[in-house]
Amino acid sequence: MKFFVDTADIDAIAELNDLGMVDGVTTNPSLILKSGRDIREVTKAICDLVDGPVSAEVVATEADVMITEGRKLAEIADNITVKVPLTWDGLKACKVLSSDGLMVNVTLCFSVNQALLAAKAGATFISPFIGRLDDINVDGMDLIADIRTVYDNFAFDTEILAASIRTVNHVAESARIGADVITAPPGVIKALAAHPLTDKGLETFLADWAKTGQKIV
Ligand code: E4P
Repeated sequence: MKFFVDTADIDAIAELNDLGMVDGVTTNPSLILKSGRDIREVTKAICDLVDGPVSAEVVATEADVMITEGRKLAEIADNITVKVPLTWDGLKACKVLSSDGLMVNVTLCFSVNQALLAAKAGATFISPFIGRLDDINVDGMDLIADIRTVYDNFAFDTEILAASIRTVNHVAESARIGADVITAPPGVIKALAAHPLTDKGLETFLADWAKTGQKIV
């Protein structure tokens, strides 16, 4: 399973990238706002740092303008993935941009039928939003499992990019179901390393080591 980082924070991406944890990056207009930087400038900086796909989102709502924006964003770097919303116009833009040979990430997916349409429109990635479904008391993990089943039924090669990940359990469940990619905030990725029994065990080992009076270096 590939790990994408869901942020436009360069320092956070660099820290994880140095550990080999970054297979790609996703951004959206809210994350660009949070970065306080110009979209072209910050996206270029991310693309210079990371080899894998970097999603940059269009903001138009009409297909022809989305296509123009998508082509403009794709000029930033070879590893740009154009992100379009899962609307009818977004699907039209997906079809044209993917036919151009660009990678397309269809975002804001909340149903298996939407995911089917995105695959048929040639999406490279489909982004089902787990956390936002959980927020309205719908189990977001069920959607990941349903899309996995349907894509496998028909051998669609669109990759399932589990998005809106808020917890470490979302990551573990996505891996268990077989999502191709997860995109998570840096804090969630770092939290994957934490376990109370690791902390407790280390505390005991260090206390016992201190009693030996020995040193390694
Ligand atoms: C995915 O590409 C989105 O940027 C992101 O995962 C949305 O997450 P949120 O629902 O926590 O804002």
